[in-house]
Amino acid sequence: MARIPIAAGNWKMNGTNAEARALCRGLAGIEAIAGVDVVLSPSFTQLPLVWDFWCGTEVHIAGQNMHTQPSGAYTGEVSPVQLAEVADWVILGHSERRQFFCEDDQALALKLRAAEAHGLTPILCVGESEAERENRRTNAVLSRQVGVALGDDPAPAGLVIAYEPVWAIGTGQAATPDEAESACAHIRSVAADKLGSDVADGVRILYGGSVNAGNIADFMAQPDIDGALVGGASLKPDDFLAITRAIAAS
Ligand code: 13P
Repeated sequence: MARIPIAAGNWKMNGTNAEARALCRGLAGIEAIAGVDVVLSPSFTQLPLVWDFWCGTEVHIAGQNMHTQPSGAYTGEVSPVQLAEVADWVILGHSERRQFFCEDDQALALKLRAAEAHGLTPILCVGESEAERENRRTNAVLSRQVGVALGDDPAPAGLVIAYEPVWAIGTGQAATPDEAESACAHIRSVAADKLGSDVADGVRILYGGSVNAGNIADFMAQPDIDGALVGGASLKPDDFLAITRAIAAS
């Protein structure tokens, strides 16, 4: 099945509003690159301006997290209703949220359903830690993370899964294309067990972890890798443009 590839930039907790605006200006023309879905994920305070900047284009805007409830007494949280005013996608379960903010697979199952209910396309992040990798537990961890988050319900519309091995994030030590393909193929097989192979064939699976303009083509040559979730390099407009062009050309 032909899957439109994705270039997603996770800006994490970086930049002022002025810097976010400058980054958007630096990405001018990205909306015209054919054959790729572009997703930008700024922090919450930058979302309104980034949303307005790309309004009327095909560029998608993603939150980096979201609460499950539409409203209520949850100080410091952002609801799916609020997020949907300034975003159309949402990153869920990034390893930094799992590691520093105690997000677990059960919470992510609820967040996936909330995203679906509010029309937000989810990017579910999964990936093993360095210790899990050393203990050869990568596939077991991915099976649990994907299996529990998907539960027994139908797939959320447009579901995207990002394989981000924790040891490769921000380290400059990317997975090899073979390692990434093996993990992404496993993720697709878990999705097929849960959702059926027709649906799993349509799920887009991204690689993330020290992606740059020099290594992206090798990842895109893999059959189960449908794009990238980019951290550091997405903060440099020329780099993210080059990555996006390489993904579109794959
Ligand atoms: P880096 O590209 O900086 O390694 O970050 C990857 C990431 O965490 C994207 O969500």
